[in-house]
Amino acid sequence: MNDITILAVETSCDETAVSVVRNGREVLSSSVNSQIESHKRFGGVVPEIASRHHVENMTRVIDDALKNAHVTMDDIDAVAVTEGPGLIGALLVGINAAKALAMSHNKPLIPVHHIAGHIYANHIVEPLKFPLLALIVSGGHTELVVMQNHLDFEVIGETRDDAVGEAYDKVARTINLPYPGGPEVDRLATEGNDTLNFPRPILEGYDFSFSGLKSAVINTLHNKRQKGETVNPADVAASFQASVIDVLCKKTLAALESYHINELIVCGGVAANSGLRGRLKKETAARGIQLHIPPLALCTDNAAMIGAAAYFLFQQQHFADYSLNGRSTIEL
Ligand code: KG4
Ligand code: ZN
Repeated sequence: MNDITILAVETSCDETAVSVVRNGREVLSSSVNSQIESHKRFGGVVPEIASRHHVENMTRVIDDALKNAHVTMDDIDAVAVTEGPGLIGALLVGINAAKALAMSHNKPLIPVHHIAGHIYANHIVEPLKFPLLALIVSGGHTELVVMQNHLDFEVIGETRDDAVGEAYDKVARTINLPYPGGPEVDRLATEGNDTLNFPRPILEGYDFSFSGLKSAVINTLHNKRQKGETVNPADVAASFQASVIDVLCKKTLAALESYHINELIVCGGVAANSGLRGRLKKETAARGIQLHIPPLALCTDNAAMIGAAAYFLFQQQHFADYSLNGRSTIEL
């Protein structure tokens, strides 16, 4: 079969990302412009600022990706873009850029689901093996997805409120750690102990809920401060992290067992968490389950993962017309 080279665009949140991917696995280039520094002083992503930065950076990131891949648009077979879910204003910038490229160079346009991208980040490292279970944990998502084959997604569980990364960022703020708080809480947790007995919110089935845990952290701190008691922030971090990891592992292991699955993929920004990685490594090894966690640059938002998923959509001729719109929520 001929090589298929896809130029992929991802702008669902605060990363302006463009990548050139050949045959779903060979990353010829992956350019990512992160806006974290601009959002830091607000303690979180400000949607309008994100959109404006995408507008400013988009063409430069496209040029970079083509240049670094040593290709021109003539070498590109299709343009892929994240259709959703994400911040609508941010998505629209990427979608319009992708449309303009596809239209002016007469290439097909491939709409890609952001979560499909996160899962296919693993395919870049090693080909996906089915059936598999994917645990997607990021600032915007907490989902458990079963796949029996390529592009065959069954969402068996998701968060009913906060995403796990969002809970990390909010807890970080209560103990005065800078945004994004996940890595900071993770680091601080290694210096503390799980002494505060935060709840382990376990819902029925495979759904998650983290807003109660987040409130428990805030209330505990508030009550202790009112009583004039001091709390060691490292113990807060360690206790919160212990609860999160217990819940994520319990559900994930239960799903692996009841679906008789031996392949586990963990992806999204929170997959960088040292505690989660360590615990899952131990638990999966004890059960003979293969654990796959892509390197950090592929865990956080990037366009290579969109190009990887788009390769399979290309084979199905899953193309959009030029009326493609962004969707802030969209089923996998
Ligand atoms: O996947 P990602 O880069 O962006 C989204 O699509 O949301 O994930 C970012 C999230 C942030 O909430 C950040 O605090 C969290 O991932 N995160 C972590 C760690 N590194 C990043 N959370 C816990 N532990 C970490 N080491
Ligand atoms: Zn993401």
